[in-house]
Amino acid sequence: MKSSKIVYVCSECGYQTSKWMGKCPQCGAWNSFEEEEYHEAPKSISAKKKSLLEGEEKAEKIGDFSLSDYVRHSTGISEFDRVLGGGIVNGSVILLAGEPGIGKSTLLLQLCGQIGDDCKILYVSGEESKTQLKMRAKRLDVNPSELYILTAADVDVILKEYDRIKPDIMIVDSIQTIYSDSSASSSGSITQVRECSSLFIEKAKTDGAAIIIVGHVNKEGGIAGPKVLEHMVDAVIYFEGDRRQPHRIVRAIKNRFGSTNEIGVFEMCETGLEEVANPSAMLLEGRPKGVSGSCAVCVMEGSRPIIAEIQALVTPTAFPSPRRTSNGIDYNRMCLLLAVLEKRLGLKFSSCDVYLNVIGGLRLDEPAVDAATCLALISSIRDIPVPDDLIAFGEIGLSGEFRSVSSIDQRVNEAFRLGFTKIAMPKRSVPKNAGSLPGIDIVPLSGIFDALTLFSKK
Ligand SMILES: Nc1ncnc2c1ncn2[C@@H]1O[C@H](COP(=O)(O)OP(=O)(O)OP(=O)(O)O)[C@@H](O)[C@H]1O
Ligand SMILES: [Mg+2]
Repeated sequence: MKSSKIVYVCSECGYQTSKWMGKCPQCGAWNSFEEEEYHEAPKSISAKKKSLLEGEEKAEKIGDFSLSDYVRHSTGISEFDRVLGGGIVNGSVILLAGEPGIGKSTLLLQLCGQIGDDCKILYVSGEESKTQLKMRAKRLDVNPSELYILTAADVDVILKEYDRIKPDIMIVDSIQTIYSDSSASSSGSITQVRECSSLFIEKAKTDGAAIIIVGHVNKEGGIAGPKVLEHMVDAVIYFEGDRRQPHRIVRAIKNRFGSTNEIGVFEMCETGLEEVANPSAMLLEGRPKGVSGSCAVCVMEGSRPIIAEIQALVTPTAFPSPRRTSNGIDYNRMCLLLAVLEKRLGLKFSSCDVYLNVIGGLRLDEPAVDAATCLALISSIRDIPVPDDLIAFGEIGLSGEFRSVSSIDQRVNEAFRLGFTKIAMPKRSVPKNAGSLPGIDIVPLSGIFDALTLFSKK
């Protein structure tokens, strides 16, 4: 008779134990154990099959084999292609993760609509019925001839159908709903997610089909399930955005076949996700004029310059520990910049609440945003607007000095294209032909003191 019992599984490496532990003895991760119920010892996938790359055990010279089997399918959605590094590679496994309702299934169904006439696609849905999928396909006006829909959650059934249909691309929506009988823990558990994913990855590597796995994210924003899943797949793509806002950003966190710097921008409409070819214009839409606490910045997202707006609100507080909130900019970076401004310019942020926000749900990680962040903060605390036609970029050091940034030409061109005529940048980054650029006023900044002059200049 099977007896149910509780095991604790490390979400980082999958190590199992009968007692909860603070530190995983296998991978050393802290606080990574999660409780799971199971009835019998699950068979380890790795024990069933020693290697995913079976048949390739013989060492060969790199020049002796060709790339003839390497095929990249364009998805027909250029913003998604950009993130994938040009398209979906056969035999690769892509993990697409995002919050509930962000539009993962919509994007994948639209992808089917674009390439489903040329490629055979098997869309496996573990969470929606065929009618629901058909309704969505009708709304999105998608009816490809080679799209097969399977509503199943048992991994054996899915793999059987896979063998029957032999698709070029299989979509699994979502991995948290799929289960394998070899493990008796409930679907969505770490063990189930790991086992089912290993079976799909093994299929992709041996058969050459590309597999897109949809993953849910947990409360902390990470992919629900074992961390090891992210190591196993070839690409991890995050679908981000605020559900209340129409725009969505697709970002590669890991990609074995392309750069991880690129982002794809979409807008959620009634008819599905529309590509946004000109994200800067969209992000600047509705920007108020002559208001303090706002500054535009040009960031490089991969090969593409994007103009974003940083907003700051600084208000006096009576409480001894003031509030600090940051949306879209690293919290620690904001604290560092506040300390620099306080020390070097004597601005009293320590008696004020500070709220920082990047419009459009964008996350800016580049140090080049420092200049615009500081200008927005200074503008808000002094209640003087930054000139509307001014854009700033540059990294700020702890001594308040401006450090040079890369890709100046692209940033300047994009800023000018969107109507910014005054460009504040680190002195060292100023291009040699700065004086001859028609209609552009380049303001060189060497230290944070120079930033103050921007407010008085008309
Ligand atoms: N009729 C509609 N008109 C406009 N937008 C819609 C309509 N129906 C759904 N949407 C949009 O699509 C989103 C849901 O998309 P989708 O089902 O692809 O998300 P998902 O990421 O797959 O969600 P889940 O995690 O629940 O599977 C909704 O949040 C909404 O923004
Ligand atoms: Mg979905």
